Order: sequence, then C-alpha cells, then structure tokens
Amino acid sequence: MLKLSLIAWLLCSLAWRTMPTACRQTRPPPSIQQLLATQLQSYMDTKTRPCENFYQYACGNWQIQQKGQEPERQREREREAEHLLPSDTLGVIEASLNQRLERLLRRNNNSSSAEESCTFVEQMRRYYRSCKRLKPYNLKKYLLQLPPSNLTYWPLVGRGWRRENFDWITALGRLRLYGLNGVLLREDVMPRWDDSLAFSIYVNKPSRQETQPMGEGAIIELLLDIGQTKRAANALARLVDGFEHQLHRLQDIEDDEGPREMQLGYLATFLPQFRWLAFMQQIRVDAEIDLRSTLIIENIPYLRALSVLVESHMPDTICSYIMIRWLAFLKQQGPGEIARGECVASMRRAMPLASSWLIGQHFYDPDSEPEITSLFARLKRRFSQILSENRLRLSPPLVHILQQKLHAMRVQIGFIQTDEIEKVEQYHEGLDLNDHNFYGNQLNLLRLRVEATHRLLSLEVTGNSTESNLDYLAETLDGSNSSPLYVRPRNLVMVPHGLLQLPVWHRNITSLQQHAVLGFALAHEMAHGFDVSGIDYDAQGNIMGPVEEITTSKHYRHGILCMQKQMPSGSRWLNEKLADYEALRLVYESFFGLGAGRREPRDPLLPQFSQRQLFFISFAQFFCGRIPVLGPRGQFHSQVHLEHAVDELRVLETLANFEEFSREFGCEKRTKMQASQRCRLW
Ligand SMILES: *[C@@H]1O[C@H](CO)[C@@H](O)[C@H](O)[C@H]1NC(C)=O
Ligand SMILES: *[C@@H]1O[C@H](CO)[C@@H](O)[C@H](O)[C@H]1NC(C)=O
Ligand SMILES: *[C@@H]1O[C@H](CO)[C@@H](O)[C@H](O)[C@H]1NC(C)=O
Ligand SMILES: *[C@@H]1O[C@H](CO)[C@@H](O)[C@H](O)[C@H]1NC(C)=O
Ligand SMILES: *[C@@H]1O[C@H](CO)[C@@H](O)[C@H](O)[C@H]1NC(C)=O
Ligand SMILES: [Zn+2]
Repeated sequence: MLKLSLIAWLLCSLAWRTMPTACRQTRPPPSIQQLLATQLQSYMDTKTRPCENFYQYACGNWQIQQKGQEPERQREREREAEHLLPSDTLGVIEASLNQRLERLLRRNNNSSSAEESCTFVEQMRRYYRSCKRLKPYNLKKYLLQLPPSNLTYWPLVGRGWRRENFDWITALGRLRLYGLNGVLLREDVMPRWDDSLAFSIYVNKPSRQETQPMGEGAIIELLLDIGQTKRAANALARLVDGFEHQLHRLQDIEDDEGPREMQLGYLATFLPQFRWLAFMQQIRVDAEIDLRSTLIIENIPYLRALSVLVESHMPDTICSYIMIRWLAFLKQQGPGEIARGECVASMRRAMPLASSWLIGQHFYDPDSEPEITSLFARLKRRFSQILSENRLRLSPPLVHILQQKLHAMRVQIGFIQTDEIEKVEQYHEGLDLNDHNFYGNQLNLLRLRVEATHRLLSLEVTGNSTESNLDYLAETLDGSNSSPLYVRPRNLVMVPHGLLQLPVWHRNITSLQQHAVLGFALAHEMAHGFDVSGIDYDAQGNIMGPVEEITTSKHYRHGILCMQKQMPSGSRWLNEKLADYEALRLVYESFFGLGAGRREPRDPLLPQFSQRQLFFISFAQFFCGRIPVLGPRGQFHSQVHLEHAVDELRVLETLANFEEFSREFGCEKRTKMQASQRCRLW
C-alpha cells in the first residue's frame, strides 16, 4: 500500500486566500494549473537548502497552510483535538470525500438519480443516522448483544459467566463470524496458492504484529470503557498481560513441517485437541459442513503449542483476553469521535463495497480512465525495457517469465464499477439496518462480510482468467482508505476511485503532475509485483514464480543487501523501500526519457524551477504531513509520530538514492541528499 490515514481541501478557500475576488465570480476562477502552482509554492520552505533536507524544503510550510484552510470556528475546536487534523495528503483527500459523502447521505429522498431507489443506499443512510444518534459510543453494548456462546456470558460483565461452559474454539469461531481475526489464530478465505481463481481456507498463526502485547495500560483503558472498577481492571489486566506475553513467545515457532492441506474429517483425528469443527459450525451456521472439504494449515507446530498454552490457563484469563481483543477490534471499526464526520468514516469501514460504489458514482471522472490506462501502459513499457537490460544477468528464459508477468499485469480503477449496481444490491440483500440500533447494525455488517467471503468457498470456478474476482478482499478492505494496492494473487494494481481527486488527479492537471504523483503511485504498486514477496507469484497470481532461480543471482542478492544496509528498522519495510526506489526511477525515465541532455522549456507559472526540479518537488509534496504534537493519549500519538517520520525518511532516502536528483539540484558529494552508496535492484 502506498500510504494510509485524515480535513477539508477546499479549492475555493485556497483561491479565496490567494486571489480575494476569485470566489465572487467577478473574474473567471483560476485554472487548476494556477491553483496547483500557487499551492506548490505555498507549501515550500525555501529558506532550507534542497541538498540539506529536501523534505523540509518541499513541505516546510504544509502544516501552516492546512491550518489556514480551516474556518475560524473549526480552528477553535481543533485546538482541543489537534490529532484530528489531517496528517497528510491522503488524509486531506479522505476528509474531503467524507464531507461530500455526508452531504449526499443527508440529502432527502427527492433526488431523481437511479440510486435513490436502491435499498443499499437507504441502508447507508440508516447506518449513518444510527451513528449520529450515538452518545456516547459504548463498547459494552456489543458484549451484551453477543456473548461468547449460548451457554455462558462474558466474565465480569453481568452475572452469567459460566467458566465450565466456556470453550475457546467455539468463542473464536463465533467472533470470527463477526469479523474478528488474528486472535490466537488466523482463519482466512483466500485464493488458492496453486490455482488463484479458486478459494481455500487458510489457517495460520497470527502475525507478529497481531500478537504484540497491548500492554496493561491499554487493557485497563478498555476495561474502564466497559464500566469496570479500577481495582477489577488492574487485577484482570495483569492476568491478561501475562498471557499475552506467553502467547507472543509462540511467534518463534517455525513451520518445520510445511503447510498441509487436509480434509476436515482427517484433521479431527490428526489434531484432536484442536476442535476445528466447532469453529466452523459457528461460521457456517446454516450450511451443512462437508467433512471432505479441505483447509490449508500453515503452521501445525504452532497450533499444537497453542492448545497446550490455552489449556494451561484459567478459562477466565483466556476468555478475558479474547474479550479485550474483541473490544479493541470494535473500537477500531466504530467512529473515532462522533461529532466530526467520523460517522461517515465509520460507515466507509463498515460498508466498503457500497461506499466504493457511491464514491465512484459521484466523485469520479470517468474520462480519466483512458489517461490512467495509458499512463500505466507507458510505465509498463519502460519497465519492460529495464527488464531486458537485465542488470541481474538472469538467464533468457527467466527474463522471459518476468516479461510475461509484467505483460499480464493489469490496472483496475475502482474496487467496484459504477455499472455493477446489481451486484452491490445483491450483496446487501436481506440486510435490515435500524435507525436506532448502531451496535446491532455494526454487528450485522461485520457478519455480512465474513459470510460473503465464506460463500466464495462453494463457488464454481469458471476458469476464466480475465475475470478479476476481488470479492475476497471485501472483508479486509478498509473502505475509508483510498490508497492504491497491488493484489498479488490477481497480478493487478487497484486504484480506488477515491484517490482520483485533487491534488492527485484532475483532468486538467499537467502531465508532469500526473507522473510525479499518480504515476509514482502506479509505478510503486507495479514494483510490488517484483519485490521480495512479489516474485513468489507468477503471471496468473499462483505461487509458482521463479523465486529460487532469481534469488540465486549474485546481483540480486547484492541489490537486496544494499537496501538492507540502509534500513535501521529491520527488514519489515524492505519491500516498500524497494518499490519506492524502483518506482521513482521508472516514472522519471518514463516521463523525461533517458539521459540528462535535453532541457525542457520551463513552466510559465513556475519559471524559477526547471521541469525536472518541479517533478521532484511535486513528488515530495505528496508525502507532506504534519508533525504531531504529543498529547495525553501517548500511544496513539507516538504511532502517528512514527508514521510521519517514516514519510520524511521515505522521501529523503528515495531521492538521495537517485543520481538524477542530486544532479538536478547540484548537490555536492557528502551532503545529506546523496546516499553514500546507491542501491538498485532491477
Ligand atoms: C479545464 O480545461 C478546460 C479546457 O481547457 C477548461 O474549459 C476548463 O475551464 C478547465 N477547468 C478547470 C477547473 O481548470
Ligand atoms: C425516504 O423514502 C423512504 C421510502 O421511500 C421512507 O421510508 C423514508 O422515511 C424517507 N426518508 C426521508 C428522509 O424522507
Ligand atoms: C419532494 O417531491 C414532492 C413531489 O415531487 C414535492 O411535493 C416535495 O415538496 C419535495 N420535497 C422536497 C423537500 O423537495
Ligand atoms: C444460540 O442462540 C441463537 C439465538 O437464540 C440461536 O439462533 C442459535 O441456534 C443458538 N446456537 C446454538 C448452537 O444453540
Ligand atoms: C471470459 O470472460 C470474458 C469476459 O467476461 C468472456 O468474453 C469470455 O468468453 C470468457 N471466457 C470463458 C472461457 O468463459
Ligand atoms: Zn507499497
């Protein structure tokens, strides 16, 4: 993913501030190019030297400008809730989408457009209204609506806790039906590794991030949220925290046996302590479970160790742990702060398919599609040349395989197309949300998603490789995030409609701006097809890529090692760094061609910069973000702080690694903006 994360980017207010009469229609409004040129300069801190810190140079005044956009009254409130200001460009885009969606949902019934008769749009309105009625958001309501099984309630909550009737597998299965995943184990419906158009259940240990202990502080906060006394919360938090740490240690268990596919019937005798049938019965409530159906278990030693660990603890601790993680999950799904358009963001998370459709229908310019497709094709052509230059000295058949993969890679605009209204309607069939029951609505929507992904298991495979079935993504898709993504099992770059807004896209923006921002984003996603994980997948999205052959290349290992050396934070971001480095070069060379000889005429709106300099400034400005103030809820803020640091570092390192950048700005050796060693893979 390119980037995640939040206020109004009001064109008019910008025009207003720079050209006082522009919004009064006495003069024609400024063109998009004029607006963007004004904006570009306003973000820059030209007192900083570009070769010292290019991020500060390009983004130094971004934060000041964002605050300036806010009307005075809103700014007042901002001081109380500083962290709700948009933290970066994508945040600005999301916030603007949310505002426009909110206006759309508040409009009454009299609009003539076809969608007004759609029941799913009415359901969206109901969700939104039920959210607006919330005061305050009370997590305990969820616990009351959904106990861990029919035979017991939650510990501490009410009087119905029956320790002898608690069964962790049943509880996990039941909550899995409502979207919880990655707690004690992961269960996903995903494309098969060997036939990506068919689906299988994959069972695995949770990711390292998922078992990262929350810490006693965060646990106590959740317990206080559901009305526990301080004393009870402290005592319970200590128990749960102890368990969390033991669980996290199980991450070290490697999968020596390798993934295994087995029938459910066989699994019951192979791993009797792991009562998978009880789990499945909770998810597929009205389906007869076929004991011959299979699932793929990716880490059997972990599951064995997990059963032992769980059995060695009091049911109270295990149940409380599951409850805490369930609350943390729900808190993330719900509205952050009810007053602030957060209900729309929450609706986008809860109804990703419907929201994607509505955004595509209202806020997307269909004329942009051919331009984006041709931008993508240009990037592919240049990448293809790079592959045939063959810097890694791979064998010709291997290069051919990589070329085929590149050739087969597609771009899709929008998670769902605007003409697929029938499909959206069908997906929400039978859904009956209520104006007055936010908690029930939320649970219904979560369940809808999990049921839909599990229905994919019984789908007939059409064997039609042109068909791009992204339905399985609907469960995990964050509808409130417009970041593009590369879908490995589909060999597909997906660009949400929501991304195609200013300043990323407008039909009138210059070709340079198109390349520097959207072009970079597309190239970055394209490069993920050829990163360390991407090469596992072949052109059809099966895990049958030529990894072994590629990784034996000395030049490949050298390139990877070079990037690893530049990484203070371990290998977690290796693929991102790789994609950034490759993408900048790719998009730059696609736009300017090769060689530095040719000089382009300057942009009359920004004559102080060369075209190439403008390209780098536009690129960097997409990553402008705000430096957050540290507030009382330290953890949230330090996370934001980290992300910001990541953005700044990302821009600096990517540019410092690209020789054209230092040439263009005349950076001398040993300035900060020149890496001591430049890395390149492909
Ligand atoms: C976009 O370009 C067209 C054609 O040049 C022009 O008519 C239109 O006013 C421009 N729109 C904006 C918002 O700049
Ligand atoms: C919109 O129309 C539906 C039925 O067509 C009705 O139930 C609902 O109350 C109307 N909403 C408003 C705000 O008028
Ligand atoms: C909605 O449409 C009806 C009939 O077309 C009209 O009588 C009514 O005033 C309209 N309501 C609003 C709020 O526009
Ligand atoms: C649990 O209770 C619900 C609602 O009362 C019922 O629909 C469901 O069948 C019950 N499940 C089991 C396993 O008894
Ligand atoms: C695959 O789908 C395309 C487009 O939907 C269709 O034209 C083609 O006939 C299909 N091929 C097969 C083998 O079903
Ligand atoms: Zn990425």
